[in-house]
Amino acid sequence: MRVIIKNDYRGMSREAARIVAHQVLAKPESVLGLPTGDTPTMMYEELVNMYKLGLLDFSRVVTFNLDEYYGLSPDHPQSYHRYMRENLFDHVNATNENIHIPDGRTKDAKSACKSYQEDLSRYGKIDLQVLGIGPNGHIGFNEPGTDWGMTVGLVRLSDTTRNRVAPRFGGIKNVPVHAITMGIKTIMRSKKILLLASGKAKAIPTKRAIEGPITEAVPASVLQLHPDVTVILDQEAASQL
Ligand code: F6R
Repeated sequence: MRVIIKNDYRGMSREAARIVAHQVLAKPESVLGLPTGDTPTMMYEELVNMYKLGLLDFSRVVTFNLDEYYGLSPDHPQSYHRYMRENLFDHVNATNENIHIPDGRTKDAKSACKSYQEDLSRYGKIDLQVLGIGPNGHIGFNEPGTDWGMTVGLVRLSDTTRNRVAPRFGGIKNVPVHAITMGIKTIMRSKKILLLASGKAKAIPTKRAIEGPITEAVPASVLQLHPDVTVILDQEAASQL
């Protein structure tokens, strides 16, 4: 595991964007695993800038998002479909057929998970999986205690996770109870993993993930077993290491 510490959020984002850009330049048909949330927004901004400068081409890049809230339509302001459009896909030349995000609207979650898994299998392995980390150590929506053998599944969101996003949904009652997420097993099959963390709230979970015991109580700790992980932190997220 390689740990890179940058001064601030901007530095973390630029380093992350550089690593993603290297991947796409080295292999234009790369399969990228992508996160949403506050952490990667500036990384996406940097990638969009590189695209606008003519440095990056997303036309052959294949993307798989980590997760989606169960029950939200793609147009819901808090859906990860919408997040990805607004932060990346509306601004670059990625093609619709190469973009994959779990279907949060389906009535039949089981077959939606199966078809996401089949889509993933068609491409073999994810070349570069980018991850954020939750304050409770989750990656994707693999909450503490989630079965590490799951490939793609419907999971119940923890109270911590739901409470954290409640203000954006206008109250806890509007926050979905479940999500569809790529499982730890799929994440761990990726060829390379990039874990990003910024800010004080991530200092303890980052320490637990990198330096603590490998335990289902801290899903990100599984990354210690992956052969090619780069962690990029800002000073605040690194403050407990
Ligand atoms: C989002 C995801 C989550 C987030 C994590 C951190 O697709 O998979 O694991 O990466 O909750 O979220 P932020 O970046 O908002 O702190």
